[in-house]
Amino acid sequence: MLVTSKELLLDAQKNDYAVGAFNTNNLEITHAIVRAAEAKRAPILIQISAGAMKYAGVEFITMIVAKAAREATIPVAIHLDHGPDFKTVMVALRAGFTSIMRDASSLPFDENVAEVRKVVEACHALGIPVEAEIGTLGGVEEHVVVSERDALMSDPDECARFAEAGGFDFLAVAIGNAHGFYKGEPKLDFDRLAAIRSKVSIPLVLHGASGIPDHQITRAVESGICKINIDTEIRDAMIRTIQKFTQENPNQIDPRKVLAPAIDAMQAVVERKIEIFRSAGRA
Ligand code: 13P
Repeated sequence: MLVTSKELLLDAQKNDYAVGAFNTNNLEITHAIVRAAEAKRAPILIQISAGAMKYAGVEFITMIVAKAAREATIPVAIHLDHGPDFKTVMVALRAGFTSIMRDASSLPFDENVAEVRKVVEACHALGIPVEAEIGTLGGVEEHVVVSERDALMSDPDECARFAEAGGFDFLAVAIGNAHGFYKGEPKLDFDRLAAIRSKVSIPLVLHGASGIPDHQITRAVESGICKINIDTEIRDAMIRTIQKFTQENPNQIDPRKVLAPAIDAMQAVVERKIEIFRSAGRA
């Protein structure tokens, strides 16, 4: 069933698990995500970025995801990932998204607040929840000196002021996480996460979770993360499986035969993540 994300994240917060938010670009990825969630009886968010909207066409991709969500026997929210501006948010709302992220984290604090408030006013009028972000994701490399590393991450006091001033529903934090695969083993800053958790009462979101070891994900969930974003590991499973299949079957030109094992591989990734996030059986 198609739902908004608010009740999903509040239930996760209350019951100490995290809802998986998985990115899609097309039919095959969407099928893989929904099949995994059905198999594990887990609530999920399916995320569409501005890049995915451009690639697939907003109406096309939203119709695919909305159809899958409506037919699913588990709750599914359609979420805008990293909404880059107000216009993209409006386009997503009109298309039927049920959850919005406005990412203005690259702007100074006051401008981030102003941008987010604008989106919150529009979305809340429609009953749609909003995620916002503070701090800098990625680029937080091991060789960066500690003071610089600290400066890029979300500051707990600033998080509290941001949540208070922004009036949004979920907060995405930068605690050493980055998008894409990590160069070495990532080290999430759990002291920082605990400090943020103690000052902010709304659900917290972890972006860039592909490649973060399971034990750190478990600890993040135990420390109050309620939504976890996965994109890269799904893409990796898809493309590596297609590469292997086409190498082994160079004469196979039926896309359905080439893509079927890739869907299975993506489903397996999503099922594993759902287990680690402790959202299996929560639907
Ligand atoms: P990964 O690509 O690292 O899994 O991150 C996904 C994400 O955070 C999307 O917002």
